[in-house]
Amino acid sequence: MNILIVGYGFAGNQYFRALDVLKQTSERLNDVAVAYYDKKDKNSFVPYFADLNQALSQFRPDLIIVTVNDAFHADILNELSSFKGFVICEKPLANSSDNLEAIKENLKNIRGFYFNLIERYSQATQTLRAFIERNQLELVRAHFTWAKNRLNDYRPTVGVTSEIIHSLDLIQYVCPVEANYELHQVIGSCSDFSVSGADILDSLSITAKLNQAVVTGYSSFVNISRTREINFIFHNPMQDIIYARMIFDTPEWDEDTLCIWKHTANGEHIFEKLLTEKKHYPHGKQAINKFVYMLGDIINLIHGDIKPKVNLPDLQTALTLQVLLNEIERKAIVLEPIEFFPKKERQFLFTENDLEKLG
Ligand SMILES: NC(=O)c1ccc[n+]([C@@H]2O[C@H](COP(=O)([O-])OP(=O)(O)OC[C@H]3O[C@@H](n4cnc5c(N)ncnc54)[C@H](O)[C@@H]3O)[C@@H](O)[C@H]2O)c1
Repeated sequence: MNILIVGYGFAGNQYFRALDVLKQTSERLNDVAVAYYDKKDKNSFVPYFADLNQALSQFRPDLIIVTVNDAFHADILNELSSFKGFVICEKPLANSSDNLEAIKENLKNIRGFYFNLIERYSQATQTLRAFIERNQLELVRAHFTWAKNRLNDYRPTVGVTSEIIHSLDLIQYVCPVEANYELHQVIGSCSDFSVSGADILDSLSITAKLNQAVVTGYSSFVNISRTREINFIFHNPMQDIIYARMIFDTPEWDEDTLCIWKHTANGEHIFEKLLTEKKHYPHGKQAINKFVYMLGDIINLIHGDIKPKVNLPDLQTALTLQVLLNEIERKAIVLEPIEFFPKKERQFLFTENDLEKLG
């Protein structure tokens, strides 16, 4: 199986390291060959293509992983009109100015599309999802904070919609509702935090409804610490109040916690409490637990038609989420752009190896 990584930066590297681990642990992956296409030659020992069409015709990939910066996903996806294999695309699908119909049209020949929202692969997410289903819980209220600091970061971005997508997807994924979000209000701020421009959305607060439940949340790219938390309040069939809290990648990558409980006259009754098991991969291979599970699933699916343990969103779900992100961006009420870099000089303080800072 030939796998082409398109965009060999921080995330591209995570995919490569995860594939390396999988190859060492499964004989079934002996036949996997990896190459990459990037604007820049990263001088890696991995075979490099400087031209996408050349990579397609010479390397003949079975699977393409799109991990260029979020602002350029559509540029790559629109080049795949003759591609007949599988595609994994990093979130978000596109930019608010990209033509979604054109993307759909250009992907009409592919065999399968997996939109990577990696936190679906957290054990915390899986456990909460199963608990909600088993206990027929109905969401009443959810609140999220999903934020980090991307000041002094060299990577271009579409803005904070690339961040808020995780929590919006997770809330919808763990609760078995068919409904889409009904967006009410959006306030935010924009700034020159990113190299992408002087007024890129850096933070958002939203209120929305998902079926009868109220969802509120805050997401930011200029939060001074990494915070990834979702709080849930449910009703069980007896209308008791059940609480759940998920925290991701804290204090380190891949360390996720989940607690599900209710208050009783005798104190808290805890139904589930877990801290996800962190595998200790060798130095330089950290922060890939979920990528290993996700890629293993998708390769098994391509190899042997084995159903994945976790359903990654398909193209239609990615498009629906993109429509929501575009609406959020359109509705956001913002003040004048903040100038973090009034001298127009910016220092890039992190490299691809700064795992704690990037992501
Ligand atoms: N799932 C996750 O946890 C996670 C974590 C980090 C990033 N991401 C996603 O991965 C994507 C990439 O982010 P990153 O942090 O790796 O960025 P990055 O800047 O580290 O890497 C992007 C790479 O793409 C290359 N590139 C950009 N445009 C290109 C083009 N048109 N053609 C060829 N190469 C091009 C750049 O040269 C760079 O090497 C983004 O969509 C981001 O949202 C996901």
